[in-house]
Amino acid sequence: MTYRSPRAAVLTGLGSWLPPDTVTNADLEATLDTNDAWIRSRTGIANRHRVSPGMSTSDLAVEAGLRALKSARSDQADAVVLATSTPDELCPATAPDVASRIGLPGVAAFDVSAVCAGFVYGLATAAGLIATGVAERVLLIGAEAFTTLVDPADRTTAAIFGDGAGAVVLRAGDPDEPGALISLVLGSDGGGSELLTVPAGGARRREPTEHHSRYLTMQGREIFRFAVRHMTSACRTAAEQTGWPLSDIDRLVAHQANARISNALGDALGVPPESRASNIEHVGNTASASIPLLLDEDNASGALTEGQRVLITAFGGGLAWGAATLVWPSLTSVA
Ligand code: COA
Repeated sequence: MTYRSPRAAVLTGLGSWLPPDTVTNADLEATLDTNDAWIRSRTGIANRHRVSPGMSTSDLAVEAGLRALKSARSDQADAVVLATSTPDELCPATAPDVASRIGLPGVAAFDVSAVCAGFVYGLATAAGLIATGVAERVLLIGAEAFTTLVDPADRTTAAIFGDGAGAVVLRAGDPDEPGALISLVLGSDGGGSELLTVPAGGARRREPTEHHSRYLTMQGREIFRFAVRHMTSACRTAAEQTGWPLSDIDRLVAHQANARISNALGDALGVPPESRASNIEHVGNTASASIPLLLDEDNASGALTEGQRVLITAFGGGLAWGAATLVWPSLTSVA
């Protein structure tokens, strides 16, 4: 899909929040048959954040959303889109509660569910709301209490996933100004849905059984291969649609699933290591929160600066993937 509209969605604010509780590799070593060397070498992860008892996705989303609005220097938005695969309840959506608590009662508010690709799907949703004139400003939040899906006895998924939230504000603007989303590419393959799934607890199997867990099950090796293949292809398409040779990319902001996946992607695209954004070491895989968390961190540290050509990409369960391009605008980070 080439995204063309006289009313572009322009990035104008961003923020993020991590719950204070952490789980280090040493913490995992204490309860699981694993070790720091294995986790670091196979995933690049040393630490993750985790919701404390009683805390949930909406709590993370509110914190990140408020910071994004502050960064955008406005407390207004016409829509709140929440990308999450861990809604507070199966029904209703969590976004209306988040919108009310942020001080935006009455605005359009709904969830987008595309697991780790949720934020890129959310960008396309926000761009659509703006292009059609339904909204002037959209608050897009990616928030996950993903550790609530993880079996504490499963050393593979326990080592990978963490919790957190990131948010951006998009406003209607000119397609040629910095911050305007230029290309948006989305894809999915339901044939791979079994590779990453929570088998029980949904409408198909309400209660867990011996063979169908209420926890996340993952076939890591297959996911790894599909992730590299689909993100590489989505990135090539997005860069081509934008008219950027891959050698022109200043910052590759890829979903933080595994450092080896990001490295394989960067190598396949020919993007040098110093141009690849990464924070997986201290946050792990935070699913739909991963990209906005990384954008906020890179903006705050000065790794992302005005005028850089940015290529965003994500892959997750579903299977679902996507990519987006923009020229980085001048943005204020809020602590
Ligand atoms: N500590 C120690 N050993 C572990 C371990 C851990 N935390 N997790 C798995 N292992 C073991 C496996 O049990 C297996 O043991 P075995 O050979 O005795 O059966 C061995 O390590 C190798 O497992 P394998 O799955 O082949 O390892 P891998 O190199 O593929 O790495 C992942 C496993 C999960 C880290 C990797 O496949 C991955 O990251 N996949 C993508 C997952 C992902 O990104 N999911 C989210 C999608 S957005």
